[in-house]
Amino acid sequence: MTQTERTTTDAGIPVESDEHSLTVGPGGPILLQDHYLIEQMAQFNRERVPERQPHAKGSGAFGRFEVTADVSPYTKAAVFQPGTKTEMVARFSTVAGERGSPDTWRDPRGFALKFYTSEGVYDMVGNNTPVFFVKDPLKFQHFIRSQKRRADNNLRDHDMQWDFWTLSPESAHQVTWLMGDRGVPRTWRHMNGYSSHTYLWVNAQGERFWVKYHFKTDQGLEFFTQDEADQMASADTDYHTRDLFEAIARGDHPSWTLYVQVMPFDDAADYRFNPFDLTKVWPHGDYPLIEVGRMTLDHNPTDHHAEIEQAAFEPNNLVPGIGPSPDRMLLGRLFAYADAHRYRIGPNYKQLPVNASKSPVHSYSKDGAMRYTKVSDPVYAPNSKGGPSADVERYGTPAGWYADGEITRAAYVDHSEDDDWGQAGTMVREVLDDAARERLVSNIVGHLLNGVSEPVLQRAFEYWHNVDKDLGDRIESGVRAKADEKDPKAAEQGNPARTDMQRKA
Ligand code: NDP
Ligand code: HEM
Repeated sequence: MTQTERTTTDAGIPVESDEHSLTVGPGGPILLQDHYLIEQMAQFNRERVPERQPHAKGSGAFGRFEVTADVSPYTKAAVFQPGTKTEMVARFSTVAGERGSPDTWRDPRGFALKFYTSEGVYDMVGNNTPVFFVKDPLKFQHFIRSQKRRADNNLRDHDMQWDFWTLSPESAHQVTWLMGDRGVPRTWRHMNGYSSHTYLWVNAQGERFWVKYHFKTDQGLEFFTQDEADQMASADTDYHTRDLFEAIARGDHPSWTLYVQVMPFDDAADYRFNPFDLTKVWPHGDYPLIEVGRMTLDHNPTDHHAEIEQAAFEPNNLVPGIGPSPDRMLLGRLFAYADAHRYRIGPNYKQLPVNASKSPVHSYSKDGAMRYTKVSDPVYAPNSKGGPSADVERYGTPAGWYADGEITRAAYVDHSEDDDWGQAGTMVREVLDDAARERLVSNIVGHLLNGVSEPVLQRAFEYWHNVDKDLGDRIESGVRAKADEKDPKAAEQGNPARTDMQRKA
């Protein structure tokens, strides 16, 4: 047996036994004075922090981001200046599943990055998809609830999912993407990451540009079919977590090349669709990819809880040279995350090493539960006692845009191609090949057959007809045929899952 350190209590006091509680004689009662036993039980009871509301299941690793090109004409952000290397942490996740749920469930994957830049912590909290299901933050909570569990039986429910989707046509592009091959990546190493949102970049001269980020995997894109994903979900619930950890441990360090699409500031107003609409991509033909740099993950956490579970990503961590855009979803997210962290981890979560800035912090925050770093006087601003003061001349005007108008609750201002179906249809017709289209049909049919009932089912057929007529026909006949196979009697009597048109035919 190898000699190890001697056990102590959390206070560093030598422990008398790793195995036996303190009792009155071998058969007697346990003593309240056994503070080591009590420490063990009490700490254990407090080991869990609440899991993240969405994105509870995930893992991550540390690494670096190296700028390989010159995007200084578009942004003054220190992290993106030529030759800069920045330490970072990444966390990948599923959205709807709980902390112990299978990694290979069909779902978008979170792609959350934290850069420890020379001008503070910069978080890019994206997904492995360039679009999203909804475009207004008021619908986000409802969307997530529809993907999680019912109130009565605590089960996930496809009827509820399709009910929400079919009543929210803006979801079509993202649902098409989700039901296709990219809905289950083979590993986290084999998927892209996207900012999804449009951000604002500002260069040293104060010129503004709209940008979208694309982190393209250098490992190549790979996916699981539905069958492979289902098998893996039972064979190894934590397959993606294990894959990332083991790859890094054996020195096979995954990397992603960052590209941006850059839209000149003034193009936004007259672009053919709203460039801030999170359910749309900017076609590469209009705004080609421009290389920025490479992110490489090269070391694993040693304490998952401390370094990954307590990692607090927040889209509001934007650094000089990078700002938000009028994307309402992004603006909503600027509030939501820090609020979640204060609840989930505690008000001083930013002091934990994984969240702390590696550039100096001179803030006026003080006190609160579990405060670790010390503050000094003066504790208020303005002051004449030598406390920190904002550099108004250098940072006084944040990245932004002109806004004015009546206060209202309304959809975005119309652009000529703002429809919900067009880009989803383009993906089906022009991006997917025959085999990928076939898998898309099969995945959707399988999903709809799993508990979706009328009237939601009929709406689902209409939804897919709107995306693409041929796709819709194939999905509808696929579902009808399989429903009849399952229940031949109902088919004879006119399966209620059949349309009138089909019954007559
Ligand atoms: P392009 O032909 O230039 O781009 C098509 C893009 O589709 C590819 O670059 C690839 O993105 C992505 N793609 C390929 N296979 C799949 C798949 N199975 N599931 C999801 N995405 C896939 O055309 P456009 O830029 O004009 O876009 C056409 C359509 O492609 C869009 O309507 C959108 O649905 C989809 N798309 C577009 C993206 C964009 O930013 N323009 C990004 C992703 C999808 P990648 O190279 O990022 O892997
Ligand atoms: C996690 C809210 C949209 C990506 C979370 C969490 C909340 C949240 C509360 C849990 C945070 C935590 O406890 O640590 C919202 C709201 C949204 C929204 C209110 C819309 C208004 C999006 C979008 C994306 C996204 C559009 C991607 C483009 C993520 C990721 C995580 C996450 C990656 C996990 C971060 C991590 O790994 O810790 N979201 N979200 N979210 N969200 Fe969102």
